[in-house]
Amino acid sequence: MKKIMLFSTVAIILSGLFGCSERKDDTPLVQSKVSIHGEGFKDPTSANFHAKYIQTKNYDIQLCQTCHGSDYSGGTTGQSCNTSACHNKAAGPENCTTCHGSVNAAPPKDLTGNVSPTFRGVGAHQKHLLSGTLHAAIACNECHKVPTAVLSPGHIDATSRAEIRFDTTSAFFVSTASYNATNVSCANTYCHGNFSGGNNLSVTWNDTSSTVAECGSCHGDVTKTGKAKIFPKTGHTSAAVTADCSTCHAAVINSSLAIIDPSKHVNGRIN
Ligand code: HEC
Ligand code: HEC
Ligand code: HEC
Ligand code: HEC
Ligand code: HEC
Repeated sequence: MKKIMLFSTVAIILSGLFGCSERKDDTPLVQSKVSIHGEGFKDPTSANFHAKYIQTKNYDIQLCQTCHGSDYSGGTTGQSCNTSACHNKAAGPENCTTCHGSVNAAPPKDLTGNVSPTFRGVGAHQKHLLSGTLHAAIACNECHKVPTAVLSPGHIDATSRAEIRFDTTSAFFVSTASYNATNVSCANTYCHGNFSGGNNLSVTWNDTSSTVAECGSCHGDVTKTGKAKIFPKTGHTSAAVTADCSTCHAAVINSSLAIIDPSKHVNGRIN
């Protein structure tokens, strides 16, 4: 061990000496900046990019605070993370869209940067989160425990995947609803038809060919047309069978069978 150290010390001295004596012109030596983090730490295309590095540290953002400061404004390094070109959103690197999400905190992008819904981390997030013609926006809290801050307990834990749990206080809650992380699928959820007369679908989160958002899939019969396509299999009186849906569900649907108020459809209540 001692020999190796001695040898390398000698080698450094020698190379330093020869390095100088070999210089023939008078151009001044350019001091190349040796980065504490190594080459490419600021380059998204590099294998050494800091986002990839922090992944290998299980996203432990506190590691960075040691030198860059608890508010990431530079600390002892003088190198702020919160610059206009970099982490320019509220809370800097701790912003909820730093490690996942973009328009909101939900993927895409997922934790490894994927944007296609075929990846399980991306899946049908935005289909649920953004309101549309079928339903109002569904909150993260329906499927996850939502952290108030990066370091909140239960957020970044030993597992690399997100935990799914259904909100027991939600209008959608049914105790039999379950998530299967092996198949990436949900079963027995109220939203997908686990109610009287519904079709109780099992749905695969990242199956982009799925037609589960079609009228007749959660309740009714997709192969039929008109009223029969959406009419629940059970739970209605014979009077309902002959009447228009809008006679009784006027807040939700019109006589042309169009949803007129998505906020009252798939809201956990019969309107
Ligand atoms: C031991 C102190 C220390 C720690 C810990 C540290 N940094 Fe740095 N960082 C520095 C210093 C000093 C610089 C200034 C430029 C240099 O030396 O690379 C810097 C610069 C940077 C840069 C700019 C690099 C460049 O090429 O300009 C990035 C990005 C960065 N750090 C990210 C991080 C991240 C992310 C973490 C946490 C995983 C972290 N740092 C932890 C000391 C540290
Ligand atoms: C309808 C249910 C549902 C809603 C609502 C939902 N998620 Fe998810 N989320 C999932 C499922 C399912 C997965 C995949 C879990 C797995 O890999 O087993 C997931 C995964 C994730 C992941 C991990 C991504 C990865 O790369 O593995 C993050 C982060 C996440 N969700 C954040 C959010 C946030 C933030 C919101 C709200 C803005 C939200 N989710 C809303 C069901 C949901
Ligand atoms: C430093 C990176 C990072 C930041 C910043 C971050 N997250 Fe996450 N988030 C993760 C990781 C990693 C996971 C999934 C892995 C796990 O469960 O350990 C995750 C998972 C989630 C999930 C899925 C449920 C869960 O805990 O598994 C939600 C919801 C979520 N984050 C919301 C947020 C919100 C809200 C913020 C802002 C307060 C935020 N995240 C900021 C890294 C981050
Ligand atoms: C005569 C009034 C009436 C008409 C017409 C009617 N419904 Fe209903 N519907 C109800 C009532 C009342 C309930 C609540 C039943 C219960 O609490 O079990 C209900 C419940 C539902 C539910 C929830 C599941 C269930 O069976 O409990 C769905 C879905 C639904 N109706 C769809 C429709 C559609 C689609 C049409 C038109 C094809 C329609 N309804 C026509 C009165 C009606
Ligand atoms: C993703 C599953 C799903 C799909 C797809 C779906 N529904 Fe529903 N629908 C529900 C659920 C769940 C209810 C139960 C009541 C509630 O929560 O609004 C419901 C209830 C209804 C009702 C009863 C009134 C009420 O309270 O909402 C009508 C009418 C209705 N749906 C019409 C439609 C029509 C028309 C379509 C196609 C445009 C459609 N549904 C597609 C899940 C679905």
